Amino acid sequence: MAPSPRDADPVLQNEMDEVSEAINKTIGRLLPETDLAENKLYEAMRHGTLGGGKRLRPFLVVHSAALFNVDPARARRVAAALEFVHCYSLIHDDLPAMDDAALRRGKPTVHKQYDEATAILAGDALLTLAFEVLSESETHEDPRVRCELIKALAKASGGHGMAGGQMLDLIAENEEFDLGTISRMQRMKTGMLMAFACESGAILGKAGEPQRRALRSYAFDLGLAFQVTDDILDVEADPQDTGKDTGKDSQAGKATFVSTLGKEQAKERAEMLVKQAVSHLHVLDGRAKMLKDLAFYVLERRV
Ligand code: IPE
Ligand code: IPE
Ligand code: MG
Ligand code: MG
Ligand code: MG
Repeated sequence: MAPSPRDADPVLQNEMDEVSEAINKTIGRLLPETDLAENKLYEAMRHGTLGGGKRLRPFLVVHSAALFNVDPARARRVAAALEFVHCYSLIHDDLPAMDDAALRRGKPTVHKQYDEATAILAGDALLTLAFEVLSESETHEDPRVRCELIKALAKASGGHGMAGGQMLDLIAENEEFDLGTISRMQRMKTGMLMAFACESGAILGKAGEPQRRALRSYAFDLGLAFQVTDDILDVEADPQDTGKDTGKDSQAGKATFVSTLGKEQAKERAEMLVKQAVSHLHVLDGRAKMLKDLAFYVLERRV
């Protein structure tokens, strides 16, 4: 079962469980066990991708794609590719050179379970596997759609996206950031992959610009709200619930929404962002109930 918020909406919880189960199968198929000499690498990739995680980004891909009647098997491939990039980002984020974390998804981090070099390689191999999966014809028969997906994921992951945001996050350990810079950092670090999650459904379904714009705007606000709650959980949650080390941000002296705004104002901001996220969905004529419900889950989550 996917990790659940307190008093989870049972319909949403059921959908999250279904997506998690389906995505685990897709990932398992794309990352089979081998008896090759380099099997340690595949073991580390499986350790970093299987058995845990909320699978929020796959949920966003699957439910955005469903709005445009996309074949669910195709959506699951894109969801798995995005989850590979997300998991690679977590494996590298946990390394001693970055957040130096020992626990992830209730298990030892990849460098603790194996070693640092293997964790670096597992991240590299997951990142490249993501693009291999997107490039294959099972993902979409139209090569232009495949190219568009590849370009969008590359932009979301790279220097102007997640990796650039992670650089700012490290700089934030030693420099005072104002609220605008913190928002930009979190938008890049977390928002860009969330935006890809939602936009990829529209790309697969060849949706029009107004729908794409609505999904992008929803995802950016949601991503920011998600990172605000992540920063709050780092301060007030229990590792037994989150499955990862807590207190890391303040230990590193990192500028976050919580360090800048304080916990109460950060909570208010997350609430405002979630309401704003949901307001963008009106373009989709009430068909985006799952996306709306997920936004409120992000606010209440304890994991
Ligand atoms: C953690 O993401 C990293 C952030 C961007 C805050 P998640 O909280 O989605 O991690 P998993 O996938 O559920 O483990
Ligand atoms: C990481 O942010 C975001 C990534 C791009 C990996 P955090 O460092 O806050 O994520 P956690 O708290 O370790 O999951
Ligand atoms: Mg980090
Ligand atoms: Mg971290
Ligand atoms: Mg965090």
